[in-house]
Amino acid sequence: MASFFRRSISSELVRICGGSEDVFIPLLSAVPVSKRQLTPDFRLTVISLVQNGILSSGEDLLCQTERLVKQLKVNSVIEDVTAGRSVITFRVNKQLLAQRVLSELHEDPQTFGLKSEILRALPRGRTLVEYSSPNIAKKFHAGHLRSTIIGHFISNLKQALGNDVIRVNYLGDWGMQFGLLGAGFQRFGSQEKLKENALQHLFEVYVQVNREAEHDVSVRSDATEFYRRLEQHEEKAVLLWKQFREITVQEYKRIYQRLGVHFDHYSGESFYQSKTQEVLNDLWTLGLLKTTEKGTGVVDLSEQGDMSSYSTVMRSDGTSLYITRDVAAALDRKKTFGFDEMIYVTDKSQSVHFQQLFQILRVMGHHWASRCVHVPFGLVKGMSTRRGDVVFLEDVIDEARNRMMHNMNQSKTSKVVCDPEQTANQIGISALIIQDFKGPLTADYAFDWERVLQAQGDTGVFLQYTHARLRSLLRTHRDETLTHFDASHLQDHRSISVLQHLLRYDEVLLQSALELQPRYLVNFLLTLSHLVSSAHRHLPVKGSATDLAQARLRLFAGACLVLASGMKILGVSPVEKM
Ligand code: ARG
Repeated sequence: MASFFRRSISSELVRICGGSEDVFIPLLSAVPVSKRQLTPDFRLTVISLVQNGILSSGEDLLCQTERLVKQLKVNSVIEDVTAGRSVITFRVNKQLLAQRVLSELHEDPQTFGLKSEILRALPRGRTLVEYSSPNIAKKFHAGHLRSTIIGHFISNLKQALGNDVIRVNYLGDWGMQFGLLGAGFQRFGSQEKLKENALQHLFEVYVQVNREAEHDVSVRSDATEFYRRLEQHEEKAVLLWKQFREITVQEYKRIYQRLGVHFDHYSGESFYQSKTQEVLNDLWTLGLLKTTEKGTGVVDLSEQGDMSSYSTVMRSDGTSLYITRDVAAALDRKKTFGFDEMIYVTDKSQSVHFQQLFQILRVMGHHWASRCVHVPFGLVKGMSTRRGDVVFLEDVIDEARNRMMHNMNQSKTSKVVCDPEQTANQIGISALIIQDFKGPLTADYAFDWERVLQAQGDTGVFLQYTHARLRSLLRTHRDETLTHFDASHLQDHRSISVLQHLLRYDEVLLQSALELQPRYLVNFLLTLSHLVSSAHRHLPVKGSATDLAQARLRLFAGACLVLASGMKILGVSPVEKM
C-alpha cells in the first residue's frame, strides 16, 4: 500500500539522484483527498530536497526541479510527474492503487498502516503512561475524565506502534484530606452506606466534615490527630484508610470497565510517601537541598544559581509535598519498570509542576528526564448531568447511555440491536470521546450534550453509525466469496477517493504519535466516514453484476477495517449494529 508506492517512487528518485530509498521514503506524503479528488498522488516538497542536499539552494530551484522531473520516467506505478514551484507531484496508477491497498488489507488486516516504513522514525521501547489519577473521596471532575480518555488513547497508540506499554493510575490517596475523612467517618460514616455506594458515601462524608471543620475546632483537631496516627502507621487508622482505598479502587475498576479502560498498576501517592525521605536525603547529599529562612527545603532550578526559580520540596516541619512524592514516584518507576519514556496526562494547570519535576530529575543527574513528557489539556466548561455538576464518573457514563438510549428508541432502525443498553453505553462513550478529541488538547471547550450525541455531522455517533452500516452490508453478503476481485471496477471517483484516503493512514498515525494529539486520527476517520457514506449511497452492491459487487464489497470491507482499527486506537469500541 502506501509503503509500496513510496518505495517505487523512491527507487526511481534514487536512480537519478543517487543515495538510498530510505532518504526519500519519509519525505513522500499522500495528498489529502479534499485537494484532488480524482488522482491518487504523492508529493515531495522542494524544500525537503534542499534540506537533504539533493537540490542545491544556490541555483534556481524551479530549473533544478524541472530538470529532475524530466529525467523521472513514468512507468507502471507512476503515471505522471509534475513539477511546481514548491512541490513535485507523482500521480500513481489508479488500478494498481485499488489492487495494492485492498490486497494488503485483505491479507494483513490487523497491521494495515501500522508497519509502514515511515513509522520507523519513531523511537520504540517501553512507555509508561500515567493517567486518570483521581483523588479518593474528592470529585471526579471533567479533568479526570479527559485524563482518562486521553491517556487511554496514548497508551493504545503507543502499543499499536509496537511499544511495550505500562498503564499506571496514580491515585490521590494521601495527604491531609485523609485526616479529615477519617475524623468525618468516625462522626457520620456508615459501613452499610459504604458498601452500598462507596464513592458517593465517602464524598458526602468529606463534604460534610469540611463544612463542620470551618466552624468547629474539635473537628479540625480530630482531623490533625487522625492524620498524625496515619503518618505513624497506627493500626486502626491505617485499617480504615485501607478500607477506603480498596473499596474506591474496586469501584473505579468496575466503572473504568464500562469505559473500556484498564490499568496495569494502581499506585498512589501513599506508596511513594514512604520513599520521600530518601529523596530528600539524596538531594541533601548532592548538595541540591537548600533550607530557606522559613525553614522550608528548596531546590534551586535557576540557570545562574540565584534562586530566581526554585521548587519547594520540604515543609518547615520536615514533611514532604506533592512534588516530592512525584520525584520519589519517578525514581521508583524507573527502577521498577525500566521505562524508556514516561508520559503524564493532566490538565494544563499542572504544567509548571511537571516542568519543575523534570528539572529536579535533571539536576539530580538523571538524563532520562529528557524522555519524560507532560501532555497537558484544557478545561471543559459546563459538563453536567441530571444530578447537577459532575461529581462521579459513573454519572457521566450513565447520562451518555441514557440519552443515547432515548435517541435510539426514537429511530426505527435500532430495533435490531440485541443488547440495546450495552450498545447505547458504547455509543454514548464514543460520542464523549470524539467530541473531546476533535480539537487541540490544550484548548478549552464548552460541553453540550445535544451536539455531542448528534447522529449526523462530525460526532462519535456518526462514526459508529458508519461502521455499523458497513458491518451490516458485509454480513448481508458474507456468503459471497471475496478471494478475487477486479480492481478495474473501482476506478470511479468515489472509490478512488476512499482508496486515496486510506493511503494516508500511516501518516496520520505518525503525526498523532509525534504530537500525542488525537485530532489527526479523529479527523481522518471522520473524513473516511463521509467518503464511505457517499460511496455506499452511490455504489450499490445488491443488484450489481457479480464482479462489480465483489469489487465494491472489497472496498467496503477494507474501509471498515481501517475505520475499526482507528476507532480502537482512540478508545472507541466499534459496534456491530445500532
Ligand atoms: N491526583 C491529581 C489530581 O487530581 C493528579 C495526579 C497527576 N499525576 C502526578 N503524577 N502528579 O489533580
